Amino acid sequence: MEAYNITVVGASGIVGQEFLKILDERNVPVGRLRLLATARSAGKTVRFRGEEIVVEETTEESFTPDDHVVFLSASGAASKQYAPIAAANGSFVVDDSSAFRMDPAVPLVIPEINPDDLEWHRGIVSQPNCTTTPMLMALNPIHRVNPLRRVVVSTYQAVAGAGTAAVEGLRRETEAALAGRHEPSGTQKREIAFNAVPQIDVFADDGYTKEELKMANETRKILHAPDVGVSATCVRIPTFFGHAMSVWAEFERPISAEEARALMTAAPGIDVVDDPATERYPTPMDAAGTDRVLVGRIRPDHSKPGAIVFWTVTDSIRKGAATNVVQVIEEAARRGLIRPRAAVR
Ligand SMILES: NC(=O)c1ccc[n+]([C@@H]2O[C@H](COP(=O)([O-])OP(=O)(O)OC[C@H]3O[C@@H](n4cnc5c(N)ncnc54)[C@H](OP(=O)(O)O)[C@@H]3O)[C@@H](O)[C@H]2O)c1
Repeated sequence: MEAYNITVVGASGIVGQEFLKILDERNVPVGRLRLLATARSAGKTVRFRGEEIVVEETTEESFTPDDHVVFLSASGAASKQYAPIAAANGSFVVDDSSAFRMDPAVPLVIPEINPDDLEWHRGIVSQPNCTTTPMLMALNPIHRVNPLRRVVVSTYQAVAGAGTAAVEGLRRETEAALAGRHEPSGTQKREIAFNAVPQIDVFADDGYTKEELKMANETRKILHAPDVGVSATCVRIPTFFGHAMSVWAEFERPISAEEARALMTAAPGIDVVDDPATERYPTPMDAAGTDRVLVGRIRPDHSKPGAIVFWTVTDSIRKGAATNVVQVIEEAARRGLIRPRAAVR
């Protein structure tokens, strides 16, 4: 792979920092690395491969035609402002926010599932929500041979999924609660320490939260399956890292737990950890810091023969975010889809 010039917007954030770590872990060749954030972080330094790089404030002038790759990992508003500028420069833009996920002109890609969608990118590639990716990683091996029809999912999401402030918020709330005080940090919709909050993002008119609707809409787009039914309930719980979920799924033809286990076991990126006899199943702590989608508790639904139920956990900031982005860059590079300079203007 060529050494690309990479610019990261949100480089001081939890995903931005993990992205730099993963570039290093995977030995991705990097030319010039530019790190951007807000004025709050400007002037701080970040160490990358032995070099101290100064974080700069992001402005519209930050983006230049010598950026081969721009990773936007800041906010939806920042993505809407900066992605078109970077794409017009001919940069390959990967966006981690929800700003472009459902834009029909923007591919939404999980490299193990729909890498061919990269071929029609027009400068911007979007990154799925950190709950959609693990759920589809587990369902896709079955969907390929027996199309998915319906999913009912409940999530148990760690605070890392809400960024650096949320991780700090849980730590502070927990210390206060253990000292007998209720001191909500304001980083979640309710106090999160020793609690469970069934609201992530705001409510839409139909009573679902936007996080829940993202899981449904993104599933249909990534699987190219416009008729799949998805009902999600997304819950924030007081874990630091590792999103978990309980998934019920029905396919066009009945499937046994054994068939599902075999298909998932053979799929890339998945570790099946599933042995009730020895009480083996994955927990968020097992997934934290890894790139794997861990699946366990695979069993038949006794109330609806032919459907299955399982449990899956993944590190939201790695395969749920930064690892998937690095894989997208690697795959696009392999396919020659990252142009050295561009003339898209
Ligand atoms: N956390 C996850 O698991 C996860 C998963 C998937 C997607 N995402 C998405 O990834 C993005 C980043 O999330 P995060 O969890 O890393 O958040 P975070 O820890 O709060 O970090 C946010 C980063 O964005 C920067 N930033 C915020 N507004 C900006 C602006 N207007 N211009 C330039 N930089 C700006 C911040 O800079 P300062 O440090 O200067 O404030 C910081 O570097 C969000 O869009 C989020 O929805 C997160």
